Amino acid sequence: MSNQTLRFILLLLLSSSVFSWKKEEFRNCNQTPFCKRARSRTPGSCSLTATDVTISDGDLTANLIPKHTNESESESKPLILTLSVYQDGILRLKIDEQHSSKTRFQVPDVVVSHFQETKLYLQRLTNEDLNGPSSVVYLSDGYSAVIRHDPFELFIRNDNSGDRVISLNSHGLFDFEQLREKNEGENWEENFRTHTDKRPYGPQSISFDVSFYDADFVYGIPERATSLALKPTRGPNVDESEPYRLFNLDVFEYIHDSPFGLYGSIPFMLSHGKVRGTSGFFWLNAAEMQIDVLAPGWDAESGISLPSSQNRIDTMWMSEAGVVDAFFFVGPNPKDVLRQYVAVTGAPALPQMFAVAYHQCRWNYRDEEDVENVDAKFDEFDIPYDVLWLDIEHTDGKRYFTWDRVLFPNPEEMQRKLAGKGRHMVTIVDPHIKRDDNFHLHKEASEKGYYVKDSNGNDFDGWCWPGSSSYADTLNPEIRSWWADKFSYQSYVGSTPSLYIWNDMNEPSVFNGPEVTMPRDALHYGGVEHREVHNAYGYYFHMATAEGLLKRGEGKDRPFVLSRALFAGSQRYGAVWTGDNSADWDHLRVSVPMVLTLGLTGMSFSGADVGGFFGNPEPELLVRWYQLGAYYPFFRAHAHHDTKRREPWLFGERKTELIRDAIHVRYALLPYFYTLFREANITGAPVARPLWMEFPSDEATFSNDEAFMVGNSILVQGIYTERAKHASVYLPGKQSWYDLRTGTVYKGGVTHKLEVTEESIPAFQRGGTILTRKDRFRRSSTQMTNDPFTLVIALNSSQAAEGELYIDDGSSFGFLEGAFIHRRFIFANGKLTSVNLAPTSGGNVRHTSDVLIERIILLGHAPGSKNALIEPSNQNVDIELGPLWVQRAHSPAFMTIRKPNVRVAEDWTIKIL
Ligand code: NOJ
Repeated sequence: MSNQTLRFILLLLLSSSVFSWKKEEFRNCNQTPFCKRARSRTPGSCSLTATDVTISDGDLTANLIPKHTNESESESKPLILTLSVYQDGILRLKIDEQHSSKTRFQVPDVVVSHFQETKLYLQRLTNEDLNGPSSVVYLSDGYSAVIRHDPFELFIRNDNSGDRVISLNSHGLFDFEQLREKNEGENWEENFRTHTDKRPYGPQSISFDVSFYDADFVYGIPERATSLALKPTRGPNVDESEPYRLFNLDVFEYIHDSPFGLYGSIPFMLSHGKVRGTSGFFWLNAAEMQIDVLAPGWDAESGISLPSSQNRIDTMWMSEAGVVDAFFFVGPNPKDVLRQYVAVTGAPALPQMFAVAYHQCRWNYRDEEDVENVDAKFDEFDIPYDVLWLDIEHTDGKRYFTWDRVLFPNPEEMQRKLAGKGRHMVTIVDPHIKRDDNFHLHKEASEKGYYVKDSNGNDFDGWCWPGSSSYADTLNPEIRSWWADKFSYQSYVGSTPSLYIWNDMNEPSVFNGPEVTMPRDALHYGGVEHREVHNAYGYYFHMATAEGLLKRGEGKDRPFVLSRALFAGSQRYGAVWTGDNSADWDHLRVSVPMVLTLGLTGMSFSGADVGGFFGNPEPELLVRWYQLGAYYPFFRAHAHHDTKRREPWLFGERKTELIRDAIHVRYALLPYFYTLFREANITGAPVARPLWMEFPSDEATFSNDEAFMVGNSILVQGIYTERAKHASVYLPGKQSWYDLRTGTVYKGGVTHKLEVTEESIPAFQRGGTILTRKDRFRRSSTQMTNDPFTLVIALNSSQAAEGELYIDDGSSFGFLEGAFIHRRFIFANGKLTSVNLAPTSGGNVRHTSDVLIERIILLGHAPGSKNALIEPSNQNVDIELGPLWVQRAHSPAFMTIRKPNVRVAEDWTIKIL
């Protein structure tokens, strides 16, 4: 055994549970030369001038000429700027250097191909004098993009008010380190702990300031465990802290409040303010990035004057490599910014219905018997679940795509048994491939030259679960296609159509690498250095796996792939989760801003490990976690292998009942959730939303990250403390809110001090909405397909309400050709109307359904009505008093129409008489 291996094993043993987050294993800004350099720059130090500003091929182009002030800058050539305008108020700015020894990396396959079709060909450039000569182009109705020439600055302006929306380089902090020859005696190497980065191309970082105007808060740039509204990292009255780091890392036992970057990176920030609304800025760059949010007054000494009548949040963006390829989104509503962002990076995939239901995972379900027992217990305890997960131990020595045949002798049979109950299985497939000459995958990959190379050009060899491992270079489309083929039923022996995939450790995690990842000087396809592509490595791997599932099913079924690493665009390939959290109340609490931030940056399908990965949750915490997790877009329980078993029935009858109840709420609301996933798929609006997304002018919501909205209709408030007896819940807006369990009505615009019991966390239906539920509990979502619906109509002060329902076959791509049902239910003037929203012509296929509505419950209706008239059947039905939830004893009674028996897919009206 080599010294290195020994050291490594020791490290692993030591790190198993005694120690928590090891700060010193990771670089801070001061230890990161490009970050330190950028942070030490003073406002106004940028000396670029825009020249030759012209329109060319529908874009605005210009040269950015550096003024030579010192020796190294004298080598700088002009930078090339291109500004393009796209439909819906999207501005794209590219800045690159002219020919150099190496092409700087531009991240491929993130911007969707049809985005280019939305380009507006610029025709006209007007010149204005705005603090110096400036060029102005049309951006969208009411907005222009302005380039000031000297010193160079770019901003978006609201033409009606003259106000600014976003700007770049207003503080003169832009810096672009151009590639150059090494000076004699110069050493470009960087060392961190025992690792040396050769940096053969030397300094190549880029940094600049971006300002958001009329902004009260900024949000976004996941992934980290911290508040939803991003706190300033520098400036007056701020304890100088680290910038927000975007560098995908496998962080062992991450702490619950830190600017430190975790497994994924989305360099997209949104600003929101009461006066202007929302705007966004996205920098498509996959190298390490660091972002400072600057407190007001940080630039007091600079002498730079910007419009002082507008509230402003200044930010500083710093990246180690790449180019400037930045997108500005004008909003002005929160959902507009999401729509604009997904126009660039793609809409979230519509998951299959089963994936929206509850998932049961643990590291590890030991063997087939264990699987069978766990599965049977769910039935015995009458708890629905849809997916059983197998972690790394199910494989033959961590060779993915294989089975430990002693523990899992009949994997097909096992999957078929689950599938018989409408259930699915997920197995883990990580990117590290065991370097074992007898392992066909390794043999093939090494023979074909498909591995990422080290800085000497050999296959990169790093340490992960299987020991010595190499990593497929999924940046290369050919290698992605090869990888995708490995999911065919022939190739993945023991897999069946009900098996789906979990991609873990794809940051990538390399136990003996610098900061537990791949060295930055490792080499990818096309001579791309790992430093340039690092944050997108997991993205390409996720993409290749999703393509694999598509291929194996001949494109018929929608893939399900959960990934830990993520990048801008990951929403197109599946779900993500927030990694290795801990079983404590703080982690329960921070899961909400983490999930909300992912949703704000396009990644709608996300969740946190229910129960907490590390440690053993107290039963009370576990119950609270189920109660909250039932509202995460991705709802999965998971646990570390050192923890005690914690399946829902292991903590006594009462706890089992509470957990069952939490899971039942999720299953009842599946029609609503699924409708929201479809909304996300069309508009980018996330399933779980910060309150301000629904109430953009209510300042009391702007930094609230204890509560959130599920769609536009449900508000959920987590309980984050032990033995809580009360909770303060702010219910925004003017309309009433109805307790989801009891129907009790609460006033909006008020913070309510509510009593809390162990039975549930506070959750409310917003007045003016209609929820769709399925109240009959089955073993899995699949078995609920033909169950009838319940509509819960929560009336607003005008005695009106609206809601939508989307239905398709829950698994195929038929919906893309029109095979879906989409209804809007409208209650007004005492009449409920079901209106079709699906196109009636075009499309090759139809989705039909005979499913009925079995119950309609009216909350907030004036009492007295006894009958209702259904049209077109001209049928009279009784209105009675009935419970809000049939299963619950002592549920209060509300006006109910039982068995209206109208079909969910048809047009009808029901008039209250
Ligand atoms: C790390 C993942 O985050 C965790 O969920 C998983 O159980 C372990 N790897 C083992 O695969």
